[in-house]
Amino acid sequence: MEIQEAFGIRLKELRTSAMLSQLDLAKLSGIERAQISKIENGTANVTLETMEKLSNAIKVPINELLNFRYQKVMHPFAKWAGGKTQLLAKLKELMPESYDTYFEPFVGGGALFFDIAPKKAYINDSNSELICVYECFKNDDDFNSLLELLDEHEKNHSEEYYYSIREMDKNPFFNTLPIYVRAARMIYLNKACFNGLYRVNAKGFFNVPSGKKEKVNTYDKNNMYSIKNYFANNKVNIFNGDYEEVVSHAKAGDFVYFDPPYDTLDDKDSFTAYSKDAFGKEEQKRLAFVFDELTSKGVKVMLSNHNTKFIRDLYKDHNIHVIEAKRMINSNANGRGPVEEVIITNY
Ligand SMILES: C[S@@+](CC[C@H](N)C(=O)[O-])C[C@H]1O[C@@H](n2cnc3c(N)ncnc32)[C@H](O)[C@@H]1O
Repeated sequence: MEIQEAFGIRLKELRTSAMLSQLDLAKLSGIERAQISKIENGTANVTLETMEKLSNAIKVPINELLNFRYQKVMHPFAKWAGGKTQLLAKLKELMPESYDTYFEPFVGGGALFFDIAPKKAYINDSNSELICVYECFKNDDDFNSLLELLDEHEKNHSEEYYYSIREMDKNPFFNTLPIYVRAARMIYLNKACFNGLYRVNAKGFFNVPSGKKEKVNTYDKNNMYSIKNYFANNKVNIFNGDYEEVVSHAKAGDFVYFDPPYDTLDDKDSFTAYSKDAFGKEEQKRLAFVFDELTSKGVKVMLSNHNTKFIRDLYKDHNIHVIEAKRMINSNANGRGPVEEVIITNY
């Protein structure tokens, strides 16, 4: 992230916290609105005099304006099964140094995506509720309504309220509700449910019990504004479907990171926690086929999975890096300790 961009995000955070529009700030500071817009978009350099005008207008000390998180501004808005936060350093080390467009077809909570904040990207997930959240960052009205609804969910939170919101997907018209309603429900359930899982039953209904928390914080305001600002200033295409469709847009020189539901450790097809469509052995084979097709097109591909014989065989023609993840498989996993994972690359 460039320093101008980080400064712009910080200015916008402080301006919106002070409930000022760009026009208000222009009037109060004597700086043209167009210039304020450029500064917030990270496309203008600021002088010390400009900083002083801004700090006086927003009524914050000048050092507050410089109090930005330069290295890392965004992080996932939801806790996600299989989230990659713990493996970020390793993934970044194994990523190609340069590429054109970034693709993440199983984006989930987007730990790597938010960390690298690519200028051009295609993201996808088959989970429609999750994708409703990503879509809200692209539209001011949806975004504002999302935050308002999240505040409401926090205020109303109780055991009974949790279950009333959980039941919403039983309504036959659920899919026709505005995206911000579905997005707010998704984030609220994710934060209030047991263990922050997103899991649906065979009928496709969300069925995780309440986490029995007295108080629930559903979002980090700075993070939400940083994500919104990122989407406004970069070219991100959002898809909600099967991974194969989105990677059909990848060309030579692009980079695809596949983080699919993992192969099971017991060599049997069994329940997977992600969605009603289990991702079994046949699905792993289909993915390996797509991996090879992309390789022959000149696309750089990286993939995460468990270190099982089945996966090593499927990708035997590629580079297999074995890493020990700190992640435990799950709480009742017959005392299993850390599980080995692989990161596979075709470059
Ligand atoms: C391991 S998780 C990804 C975790 C993500 N990297 C993160 O940091 O949070 C796998 C994701 O794949 C999605 N998924 C499952 N089957 C899919 C398919 N056929 N096409 C696209 N996405 C799928 C699930 O909804 C889930 O979000």
